[in-house]
Amino acid sequence: MPPSRYNGGMAQPYNRIFNFSAGPGVLPVEVLEQARDEMMNYGGSGASVAELSHRSKTYEGIIQGAEADIRTLASIPDNYKVLFLQGGASLQFSMLAMNFLGQGQTADYIVTGAWGEKAVEAAQLVGNVNVTWNGKSTNFDRLPDSLGDHSGATYTHFTTNETIQGVEFQSDPDLGNSTICDMSSDIFSRPLDVSKYAMIYAGAQKNMGPAGACLVILRDDMLDRIPNGLGPMLDYRIHAKNGSMYNTPPAYTVYMIGLVIKHLLKNGGLQGAFERNAAKAKLIYDAIDGSGGFYKGHAQRDCRSLMNITFTLPSDELTDTFVKEAKAEGMIELKGHRSVGGCRASTYNSMPHEGCVALSQFMAQFAARNG
Ligand SMILES: Cc1ncc(COP(=O)(O)O)c(C=O)c1O
Repeated sequence: MPPSRYNGGMAQPYNRIFNFSAGPGVLPVEVLEQARDEMMNYGGSGASVAELSHRSKTYEGIIQGAEADIRTLASIPDNYKVLFLQGGASLQFSMLAMNFLGQGQTADYIVTGAWGEKAVEAAQLVGNVNVTWNGKSTNFDRLPDSLGDHSGATYTHFTTNETIQGVEFQSDPDLGNSTICDMSSDIFSRPLDVSKYAMIYAGAQKNMGPAGACLVILRDDMLDRIPNGLGPMLDYRIHAKNGSMYNTPPAYTVYMIGLVIKHLLKNGGLQGAFERNAAKAKLIYDAIDGSGGFYKGHAQRDCRSLMNITFTLPSDELTDTFVKEAKAEGMIELKGHRSVGGCRASTYNSMPHEGCVALSQFMAQFAARNG
């Protein structure tokens, strides 16, 4: 792959491309290098992390270190459990309802996109769901004007960042004491106030590491609400009691998460991540807004995502040409989800700034040629 002309002709390390995938997403080069260096013999153990017993002292150090660093990074209060589970965020859609939506109770769901819809579908199989707001009629291009009253709900669920539509809550909303949030596509992209949540969950594969683990941050008192009789793998109490090691954990992914979190801590923590993400996203939104209407942003301006930037072009034909030409310039995975059409640039924490410079320059040049 030749270096992109849109980045001053600078080659990326290892000839890497700019990967705008919505997930699994790009990882920091330094993290990949460290994983490579430790692949054959982790810390003098004589084995790869992928080969270590999860009951070994060495692995205990890895998983406990990852948890400790996550606690530091997000200032997680002591009365929260930090769990590494499997089954992705998708299993959480069902599991959280099985644990917290009892008979005779109602859970409120604010649906701002396709993932929120999936969370509702899974919870409806378990109990009574009240969709208090649904943005479907405008193809999920906005957030609710008002958050509503959720005092009657056993919990209130929402999605901070809708990965497909590119609609993001700009700060932690006040939804009451039992707020449960799917943060899969923007966790650790900006400072957050964990104490506003009863539970946060997020698949690892966008901002934290490779696929294979789902991070769950759960307030202790929620454990008291769980009914008896759930299968052990579906009961948060079992995972909490066993430090995420009731069964074999997603061991290598947790190790990689640990490396990514350390990298974030070294680079200004969540505030540093936010500043970098805001600057990167601005480059692309400016290219949209400065195109004289050639590109149209899907999300309303007040809820534009810093992580998934969605926009359309004048025709499907031009969209296909855009995606093809961008690929030839070293920028991949820019095709949008079919429900929105157009393009989507995912600019997760580890997308280099230069990638967004390259894309914004390419966008301006493409619009000038085709507008
Ligand atoms: C916001 C959101 N929630 C949930 C999911 C599903 O995650 P998983 O594939 O880990 O089950 C995704 C995946 O892209 C997502 O973006």
